Parts: sequence; C-alpha cells; structure tokens
Amino acid sequence: MTELASSKTNPIMTVPRFAAAKGRGQKISMVTAYDFLWAEIFDQAGVDSILVGDSLGMVVQGRSTTLPVTLDQMIYHGEMVARAVKRALVIVDLPFMSYQVSPAQAVENAGRILKETGAAAVKLEGGVHQAATIQALSAADIPVMAHVGMRPQSVRKYGAMSKVQRDEVGLMADAQAAEAAGAFGIVLELIPQAVARRITAEISIPTIGIGAGPGCDGQVLVSCDMLGLSGFQPKFLKQYADLREVVLSATRQYVREVGDGTFPDPAHSHD
Ligand code: KIV
Repeated sequence: MTELASSKTNPIMTVPRFAAAKGRGQKISMVTAYDFLWAEIFDQAGVDSILVGDSLGMVVQGRSTTLPVTLDQMIYHGEMVARAVKRALVIVDLPFMSYQVSPAQAVENAGRILKETGAAAVKLEGGVHQAATIQALSAADIPVMAHVGMRPQSVRKYGAMSKVQRDEVGLMADAQAAEAAGAFGIVLELIPQAVARRITAEISIPTIGIGAGPGCDGQVLVSCDMLGLSGFQPKFLKQYADLREVVLSATRQYVREVGDGTFPDPAHSHD
C-alpha cells in the first residue's frame, strides 16, 4: 500500500478520532514507550496510541513505585516519544504531586507537558476526587484521560499495588465523574471484567483496559512487560515476545566472539 493510501485508511490519530473510535466499535490499541527508538517502532507497527507512562519509574529508573518520578522527567521522556511518532496519539502521564495540589497546579503542569513535549494529551489518576481538576484541564482545552481502578500513585494510602479493585459502585461513580468532567477517555486498571464491561456500556468515552478483560473499548500494556524484557508476569499480561532471552543470547555470543577473536572477522574490518 502506498503511503497516501495507508494514511487514508489509517489516518493520524487525534483526540477526536480516538474518542470517535468507540462509536464505530473500533478497538483501540495502546502501549507505553519512554524513548525515541521504541516509540518509532511501535508507531511503525500501527499502534493507535502511545502512553508515556509514569511506569517509567519502575521500568526505566528501576524504582519500586511511580512516586519519585518528576514532571521534568516526564517532559524529558515525553518529548523524545512525541518527536518519534508520526501517527499514534501520544499521551503523557501527570506524575505524582504534579496535579493533586489544585486544579490550577494541574493546568499549569499539563500545559507545560503539551508545550514542551508536543504530546496530544495528559493522563491523571482518579475519578470522583479529581473531577474538578479534569474539568479545569478540559476548560483549558487540555485533553485529559482519567485512570481508575488500581491507581499506582495511591500505593502509600492503599498498600499493595497488585490487588484487583472490586468496589463496583465506586468504580462506576469514578468513571461517570470522569466522563461528566470532560475526560476524553479512561484507563480501567485491574478490575473484574464484568465491571469493566458494564462501565464500557454505560459511558460514552472510550475505556482502555489493563487487567480489565475484553469488554473494554481498547487495551494498554506496558511495553517492556509485553515484550518479555522486564520479567513482570501478572495474570492479565500476554507476553508477545521473549526479548530478554534474545538480547541475553546475542550479547553472550558477542562477548564470546570478542573473547576468542572471532569478531571482528575480515568481513567486518577495513583494509
Ligand atoms: O504508567 C503507566 O504505564 C500506566 C499504564 C499501566 C496504564 O499508567
């Protein structure tokens, strides 16, 4: 297919197109990325949306939670990703304490993200309790995605980060509050599939599930987990490749060949 033909069948993903996908029954694919190299590959593979998640605290920085991630770090990674991407919708997480203080703080920091990264939208964790902030961002024309269910930034309050969230009434209230406040989409993390299906049926904005079953409008996975790089293997994760093994094996061969003088051979040397 020519580039022009493919741009007609697969046009650049914008916030309105992302939101309209639900009406067409078109499933939305999203993965996380944190740098230029991987973002370019995921975009070329045709993913609809790339999330610069604050999961980078764990998978890039090697920390145990997302809490230490700063706004400047999100901007640094977000800019690299947005610069690499030609088609997918790039969304950048607002990190812990960059929006919880007040709606004004959120607008200022989300504004920095959009201005300094070139990303299309931001994501924050919360529903009912962040409704005023979602409303303020939306009123400032900053597209915002909500994130309910398991919320990693609340780990200090609620403890274990890997528990399935089962409060159906609370989850529905969060989703409805996010929609009413003006969110253009919502991540549902680690909730029972029946609840995710019900929320998806009852709200008009796309739901993007992670550990929330097939009834959502789309799915998101942390790329390092999906590709088998991190070794993190929760029940909901489908590992699509074993890149850790590929990289280990290639690097071990390189070490061996440098050690025994097999590399570089004449084919890889200049006369
Ligand atoms: O930070 C992140 O990667 C996320 C996804 C797990 C949805 O928020």
